[in-house]
Amino acid sequence: MITLDRPLDMHVHVRQDEMLRRVVPHTAQQFVGAVCMPNTLPPVDNLERYEAYVEEVKAAAAPLSFDPYVPLFFRDDFTREELSAWAPKLFGIKLYPAGVTTNSDSGVGEIEKIEPILQIMQDLDLPLLVHGETHGYSPDREREFVAVYDRFATTFPKLRITMEHITTREAAEFLGKHENVFATITLHHMLWTMDDMLGGPFNPFLFCKPILKSPDDRAALQDLVKQGHDKLMFGSDSAPHTEVAKRTEGAAGCYSAPVLLPCLAQFFEDQGILDQLQAYVSDNARRIYRVDPPQRSVNLVEKEWTVPPRYGSIVPVNAGATLRWWVEGANEAELD
Ligand code: NCD
Ligand code: ZN
Repeated sequence: MITLDRPLDMHVHVRQDEMLRRVVPHTAQQFVGAVCMPNTLPPVDNLERYEAYVEEVKAAAAPLSFDPYVPLFFRDDFTREELSAWAPKLFGIKLYPAGVTTNSDSGVGEIEKIEPILQIMQDLDLPLLVHGETHGYSPDREREFVAVYDRFATTFPKLRITMEHITTREAAEFLGKHENVFATITLHHMLWTMDDMLGGPFNPFLFCKPILKSPDDRAALQDLVKQGHDKLMFGSDSAPHTEVAKRTEGAAGCYSAPVLLPCLAQFFEDQGILDQLQAYVSDNARRIYRVDPPQRSVNLVEKEWTVPPRYGSIVPVNAGATLRWWVEGANEAELD
């Protein structure tokens, strides 16, 4: 058995309404808290929506104790007055360059103009979480964005900046450059490459932003994880869409929530680094964000199970695969 103390998923999309109620239990059974991203419709970009969203997620996780950490959706017209008033309650702010991913149309258009807001965030000690991609050629978008991270980290050396879902060797190497820069890595970018998505028949369920990268990029991410880098956190970027939206609308996002801890345990065990899993899925995040999640541990037991083809209308990654770790207390009825 593997026991994880207060595991956290530092990047997940749980959506709204019926979809939210379906997906939150998968996250809450495996994690005691998660960074729930604010790219809802409309986005979570003020205190009122923030408080309502936290309650909606908590209610869907009940009776499990679960802390949703919801970063506010970055608006380029935030004022010092409102951020100062909200800051004691807020977890951080998530920056989406406009149009780079799902529901980011109301994101920031001119990234050069937001430095006054970053100054306010630094003053208030509000962490900045970033979807770091330019509008360039897709495989290069994150590499191009590293220069922006560099400028932000240099100009605001006390601002905690998290590079969300890093996917490239360049971003992996950049992690060591500034004390105030941190990163999350997803399960899918650690395990798979672009060829798993489109080297054979196209697999739309592995289509996500940032897109999967090369074997060399993946090796750089795996090296960081294996090193036990203390500025690295697990963030799944599990991003559910209906099967219809994935197949017919080209929706970007991988639904990995049901398989996360079993797949992570399998990878860490295969690499001979199971003793590092606790830091990766909890300790680093608790230290970096100074969060104090509910005192609850999660057990993984050795038991083979086959990932179902779908959960309701959502197709998970690894559908049909046999995994060898099972989350104690997870819903066995969903396997039928
Ligand atoms: C995410 C989504 O669907 O909300 N999609 C994705 O491909 N990862 C948004 C995001 O994190 O980019
Ligand atoms: Zn995301």
